[in-house]
Amino acid sequence: MIFVTGGAGYIGSHTCVELLNAGYDVTVFDNFCNSNPEALKRVEQITQKKINLVEGDCRNRAAMVKVLKESGATAVIHFAGLKAVGESVEKPNAYYDNNVVGTLRLLEAMQECNVKTLVFSSSATVYGDPIKLPLTEDHPLAPTNPYGRSKWMIEEILRDLYHSDHAFKIAILRYFNPVGAHVSGLIGEDPQGIPNNLMPFVAQVAVGRRDSLSIWGSDYATPDGTGVRDYIHVVDLAIGHLKALEALRAINSEKMNSCLTINLGTGQGYSVLDVVRAYEKASNKRIPYQIAPRRLGDIAACYADPKRAFDMLGWQAKLGLDEMCANSWHWQSNNPSGYQQK
Ligand code: NAD
Ligand code: UD1
Repeated sequence: MIFVTGGAGYIGSHTCVELLNAGYDVTVFDNFCNSNPEALKRVEQITQKKINLVEGDCRNRAAMVKVLKESGATAVIHFAGLKAVGESVEKPNAYYDNNVVGTLRLLEAMQECNVKTLVFSSSATVYGDPIKLPLTEDHPLAPTNPYGRSKWMIEEILRDLYHSDHAFKIAILRYFNPVGAHVSGLIGEDPQGIPNNLMPFVAQVAVGRRDSLSIWGSDYATPDGTGVRDYIHVVDLAIGHLKALEALRAINSEKMNSCLTINLGTGQGYSVLDVVRAYEKASNKRIPYQIAPRRLGDIAACYADPKRAFDMLGWQAKLGLDEMCANSWHWQSNNPSGYQQK
């Protein structure tokens, strides 16, 4: 049984599909602060398997102890957290409380229940403004906002925990830019309010929910002047979690390093204009855009060196930008208002 915190969210729901398809039982623990239980019904529809769902908050240690014990969980995948960079600048306490305190409570619950295998959602945001590209895992860490610092703090906590107790098996996964949706078109990204991120915004322009895209800067030192990122298909990302879990389970000696830090990216950077063109092709819609000033805190380019993931997990991304856009469009056009029926 795998205990999945935040399993109703964007990446969590796609990972539940892969876990169930691989034969794992899944308990989702989520407070639905940024998700809809409908996502899990859709996961059950895709997989034809049942999820054990418990509504709860990761800051409630006793609730997690109860569920860990009752479900017989042997490993945890920890997605639960807040993730909006701008909001984290406005409300830092909420981010440290939810992300850092929530993780501490989870770790206490795991220790109490003797569950010591953990896959954690970190982010490429921990690197800050890259000194050198592609980003390798040993690049210095210099996050530039409270959200990024909350991830960095949790990483440090996990490294200290492992140092104190080598029975722990921990995979810290640093995601690059997750996009796209399951090929069924039944689950996908469903941002609340105006999307912060590029692809969901483009998707909403394509479907007619928004008039046009603002491109934040066209004077970066990149091939076409717009920002370059390492977009990764959410299904590839989900499979990366499965591989990480399997790699941790295969570690059978406390002498082996079992605190792994791994980039999950494709290694390929695409510009904002590359994404716009690929989305136009996938949706057969025109995406009107205007060039706007740079967004505060943005960087020119960011992409992964994905070699360690291949060496340690036998994982590499398989799906390209065309599939990311096609699957995003399938989800968006079938569900123009996301999980809310309107
Ligand atoms: P999401 O918001 O869709 O999913 C997070 C889920 O956690 C939601 O279902 C939410 O309701 C739940 N949750 C939040 N706080 C909780 C709490 N205290 N107790 C219980 N449940 C709680 O986000 P996502 O895109 O699926 O991201 C999953 C994880 O990956 C997050 O930790 C995020 O920081 C990290 N991450 C995301 C991205 C990205 O671009 N999506 C990139 C890097 C890292
Ligand atoms: C954002 C987060 C980062 C997180 C990452 C992955 C910020 C400041 N950073 O980064 O912490 O790890 O997502 O989820 O939010 N763009 C536009 N117009 C838009 C939206 C985006 O031009 O309306 C551009 C951006 O300037 C950037 C690119 O598109 O060049 C990608 O932006 P976005 O999807 O927000 O991701 P990141 O900036 O990488």
